[in-house]
Amino acid sequence: MAVEILTGKVFLLITGASQGIGQQIAITFSKLLEKDSRILLLARNENGLRETAGKIPSHVSVECVNVDLSVATADELTGIIEKSVDPSKYDRAVIVHNAGTIGDISKMTTEMLDFDIWRKYYDLNVFSPAVLNSVFMKIFNDDNKYKKVVINISSLCGVKPMKSMGYYCSGKAARELYFHVFAEEFPQVNVLNYAPGPVETNMLKTVAETAVDVELRKYMSDMRQEKKQLTTDQTVNRLVGILKEQKYKSGAHVDYFDEI
Ligand SMILES: NC(=O)c1ccc[n+]([C@@H]2O[C@H](COP(=O)([O-])OP(=O)(O)OC[C@H]3O[C@@H](n4cnc5c(N)ncnc54)[C@H](OP(=O)(O)O)[C@@H]3O)[C@@H](O)[C@H]2O)c1
Repeated sequence: MAVEILTGKVFLLITGASQGIGQQIAITFSKLLEKDSRILLLARNENGLRETAGKIPSHVSVECVNVDLSVATADELTGIIEKSVDPSKYDRAVIVHNAGTIGDISKMTTEMLDFDIWRKYYDLNVFSPAVLNSVFMKIFNDDNKYKKVVINISSLCGVKPMKSMGYYCSGKAARELYFHVFAEEFPQVNVLNYAPGPVETNMLKTVAETAVDVELRKYMSDMRQEKKQLTTDQTVNRLVGILKEQKYKSGAHVDYFDEI
């Protein structure tokens, strides 16, 4: 299936590509890319990144860099990208902000008293994608040369409160609003906030097993037992369909279950 906004010589950067949804995005997108495209995969776990890279077809070149995005500075991120890519060789730049953590879900909101824990959570989940996005836009700054696509992996939790998820919901909302502002400021960039639905990954397992709210824990663990959650393949195929059809307005929040 050809997806117009992934055509041409593409440079694709995916964060959190060592497992879960990010790994699947790398595998599925790589099959859609044309020859001489290049993928840069970022995460901490080197083995996971290598496993992802091993599943990418050989017509696309791939590089993995293990980096802790919660501490990497703008200069370090610039260095990683500039070392990996000669921008002049590409005509399309695509970035997928996928890396994320669920945070401490063993606490209700009134127990979230530690500024350091708040800061660390926001460093990775809000500040890092914002800074990386700016770095990426500065490197691919020539609007006449590059078509640009930004995909933020958001969540239903970014628009709907859920008990136990004070860090996660507030972080997803802030991260998504940043990308709404970005989309308003840069109409020449194609921006999508994609909520992938409940997907079987380590993150979903953590919620089903450890959320402090009993109802949420039961809802998630029943869903997993009844195998009603999505596979990474299902949600990424839906993402590809949304990108292909281009029925969203740049910056929109689109959920797996939305009929668009
Ligand atoms: N699963 C769901 O049901 C669901 C629902 C809605 C939204 N989402 C969103 O989908 C995205 C992917 O989640 P997932 O379910 O695939 O979770 P996952 O399996 O836990 O994967 C998270 C990814 O983020 C990376 N990551 C975490 N901390 C990092 C750090 N400090 N530096 C660099 N990379 C880091 C991890 O890599 P390393 O550990 O190797 O660093 C991993 O590759 C997240 O943004 C999540 O909020 C998931």
